Amino acid sequence: MIAAPSVLSLDYSRMNEEVRQLNESGAQYLHFDVMDGHFVPNLTFGPDILKGFCRISDLTKDVHLMVDDPVYYSNVFIEAGADIITFHTEAMQNNAGMIKDLAMSIHAQGRKAGLTLRPGTDLLSLKPFMNDFDLFLIMSVEPGFGGQKFIPESADRIRQLKQWIADSQSKALIEVDGGINAETAQICADAGADILVAGSFVFRNDIRKAVQQLCAVHAS
Ligand code: DX5
Ligand code: ZN
Repeated sequence: MIAAPSVLSLDYSRMNEEVRQLNESGAQYLHFDVMDGHFVPNLTFGPDILKGFCRISDLTKDVHLMVDDPVYYSNVFIEAGADIITFHTEAMQNNAGMIKDLAMSIHAQGRKAGLTLRPGTDLLSLKPFMNDFDLFLIMSVEPGFGGQKFIPESADRIRQLKQWIADSQSKALIEVDGGINAETAQICADAGADILVAGSFVFRNDIRKAVQQLCAVHAS
């Protein structure tokens, strides 16, 4: 399993120490939650913070855009060092042309593109894009805050998405985000997840141990 700790839950009074532990933990991704206070009722980091993380960590910068204008901010965060840009279908009014164009623009800049949706949005809104994206992010909590409970219905969405990916010979990976801990990680792995985002589980415990637990998870 690829572990993607979410630095939303980092203790910023100990940033250097915690990022050092993260770098040595076996995590492959650093999940970076960008919130604009409009798309979700919370406000987080700008591009200069991502540049700071790039100076102290070589982990793959997995940027999750929870913003009203992902077209503008994908360029801003690519310029700031993002390796992966994941955006929400709801921010693109489910306009297939716009969604495909943004994926192509992210690829044209040599980065990977991800598509995601709120837990309450019909999973069918991902179906037309199976061959346009490198990953699909299943939100297993309502976007906006860390520390929420895993939504159990997410497992069915992971399974359904896995089937569509297989049926369309897509190489896309499935990332799951929200309420991930040792127990829900296994549920997601069994349903077909490839990458697990975890904020509170990692940063409220021993960072290395928590990441190792996530990396060790596989479908039973
Ligand atoms: C929520 C973010 C998640 C969040 C995960 O909007 O997208 O990445 O940081 O935090 P936990 O793992 O604590 O649910
Ligand atoms: Zn996220």
